[in-house]
Amino acid sequence: MAAYAAILFIGDNMIDKDLIPKHVAVIMDGNGRWATKNKVSRVSGHNQGMLAMKDIIKRADILGIKYLTVYAFSTENWKRSAEEVGGIFKLLVKYVASELEELHHNNVKVRILGDYTQIPDSAVASIERALKTTENNDGLQFNIALNYGSRLEIIRSVKKIAALACAGEINADDIDEEMISKYLYTGEENGNVPDPDLIIRTSGEERLSNFLLWQCAYSEFAFTDSLWPDFTPDEFESIIEEYTTRHRRFGGR
Ligand code: FPP
Repeated sequence: MAAYAAILFIGDNMIDKDLIPKHVAVIMDGNGRWATKNKVSRVSGHNQGMLAMKDIIKRADILGIKYLTVYAFSTENWKRSAEEVGGIFKLLVKYVASELEELHHNNVKVRILGDYTQIPDSAVASIERALKTTENNDGLQFNIALNYGSRLEIIRSVKKIAALACAGEINADDIDEEMISKYLYTGEENGNVPDPDLIIRTSGEERLSNFLLWQCAYSEFAFTDSLWPDFTPDEFESIIEEYTTRHRRFGGR
């Protein structure tokens, strides 16, 4: 039972719980446009985005989703101004400081997809605290894609496999989908996260932007015009409800 289930928002007649996606991934887009629209700084837009993210985690848990992955910082996001990049990592530190206790209390397990060792030291320390504190939790797994890029993730997996081949531990013919998946960030190092059933992108953009390219082979997609800070748990729930009405065929009939 989800730890947040005490406050039950699901209308049981509306959503067939058996069809709830196991893994939902979200591209939280539109913080910058929200900031412009509301005449505040871009970092304030990200702060508002962080508040939206907190509410979505809760609703995901209530709905019984097992894995929630958010795209928080891509390998391309380093091209933004130092002020904005620094602001996002400060928010991360603030987020962990204010939310870790509640996440832990609700049995949420935090994992990072991406090379977080390259981010500022204070943020690395916060991340490591969150990972350590929640490592034995078995509720919702909350994956934060941080300094994440899917092509680099695939290259990293291929390099690990090449090293095994060079060491004579495997043959070229042993390489299959399972092996490539195993060495992705979503693979064994993070508990073998199942491929996302549903990928949501906000802000009206309809592209993947180097997010979970391997893992999305059979994912469903949902796009909304809402800017991420305006994206509400109710809209999230409506998308999940609509998803449960889709018929997934995985290439079959
Ligand atoms: C995309 O909006 C958003 C990001 C690059 C950052 C997402 C960050 C958060 C939601 C903040 C907190 C996250 C954590 C884990 C603490 P954009 O800036 O590209 O928006 P735009 O396309 O309108 O400019």
